[in-house]
Amino acid sequence: MRIIFSYSIIFSVLFTLSCAKEKSLFFFRPYVNSTDTHSTKILWASKKKDGDVKVVVFSGTTPIGEYNTTVIRIPAKKKYIYTTTVTGLRPDSRYRYVVYFQGETKRGYFRTLPQVGMPMHFTIFGDNRSHPDIFRGVSKAISWEKSSLAISTGDFCVNGNKLGSWRKQFFMPGDDLISFTTLWPVRGNHDGISSIYSAIFDLPGEELYYSFTASDVHFVILDLKLKKRKEQMLLWLENDLRRSKSIWTIVLYHYPTFNAGGHGSDWGREDVYPILKKGDVDMVITGHSHIYERFLPIGAPGDKPIIFITTGGAGAPIHKAIENEALVSGRGYAETHYCQFYSHADTLAMKAKTPAGMVIDDFRLIKKNGFYQQEIMGQVISVEEAQKRLESN
Ligand SMILES: [Fe+2]
Repeated sequence: MRIIFSYSIIFSVLFTLSCAKEKSLFFFRPYVNSTDTHSTKILWASKKKDGDVKVVVFSGTTPIGEYNTTVIRIPAKKKYIYTTTVTGLRPDSRYRYVVYFQGETKRGYFRTLPQVGMPMHFTIFGDNRSHPDIFRGVSKAISWEKSSLAISTGDFCVNGNKLGSWRKQFFMPGDDLISFTTLWPVRGNHDGISSIYSAIFDLPGEELYYSFTASDVHFVILDLKLKKRKEQMLLWLENDLRRSKSIWTIVLYHYPTFNAGGHGSDWGREDVYPILKKGDVDMVITGHSHIYERFLPIGAPGDKPIIFITTGGAGAPIHKAIENEALVSGRGYAETHYCQFYSHADTLAMKAKTPAGMVIDDFRLIKKNGFYQQEIMGQVISVEEAQKRLESN
């Protein structure tokens, strides 16, 4: 009798706890988009289209203000995105926020962007989809870094047209990462139609493609799914690169332009690459193939080359790494990983790391008079040579 009684108490406690979890009105926990030096946006998703909302931002233990929140419906879904715009912040400062929503409370952190000339840490990861348990480990490891921002190279979930897929594969396992820094997304081929994607994220410009500057780095994000608007995006890209005054330019999109393992993609080789070359881009970072690859610097003899990196191993099933002479060290890496960057004036450094902290690649670019150090310039291969080496597999 006592045993039955104990089991019934345990069952009822577990049932109550699971109901409490199910009843949360936060469908996506709060996440942060579009942070700059003085402002940011805090968003969350809910099935409730209105309710009691209060968002308070703290500097240390001091509350610095309360802010207005707007609500939009996600097209064709019974879910809503809440957006709180926070202004009046100081550059390169860490803030804590608390979202009070219908009696529930969620907390998180973000860091405003540093001004030009200041050092900065940032993270780039990709293809977290499909294995939430693996992504949870990557998310935790990234949250231990000191990043001012995190960029995903896309494929957040298997089916981006289903909000449950976003919730189960990104927002829930990514809690550690999402609650500590600003997220800047690239849309992958799995990430759904543009109206849903644009409702979830609040980004500058056209949202599917956009740019922003953080300290000495200009980041440019392109979209792979645009067909009719691709020409418009490439015209914008050309102008955006021409206007940039930053020391460093990093361009990100989902399908690789040079890729040995995984899907072997050559997206943009004909129409995007010439614009990147003309626009003095330093680095192109993509996802889609679930591996890590860094190519030898690619460019014309005598010109500053572009470093092409594929980082698509934050949770998706890892592809077989390929040995190829177009790659640095002659090989790719079949490891779950993320890329941790540090920039300061003329230095841009990166370590590709596993969640356990093992470094699988470590390199540094130093730019003087528009060129990299001799060690990098001495490795340059042409597009034709890269292509020839890739075809040799
Ligand atoms: Fe993909």
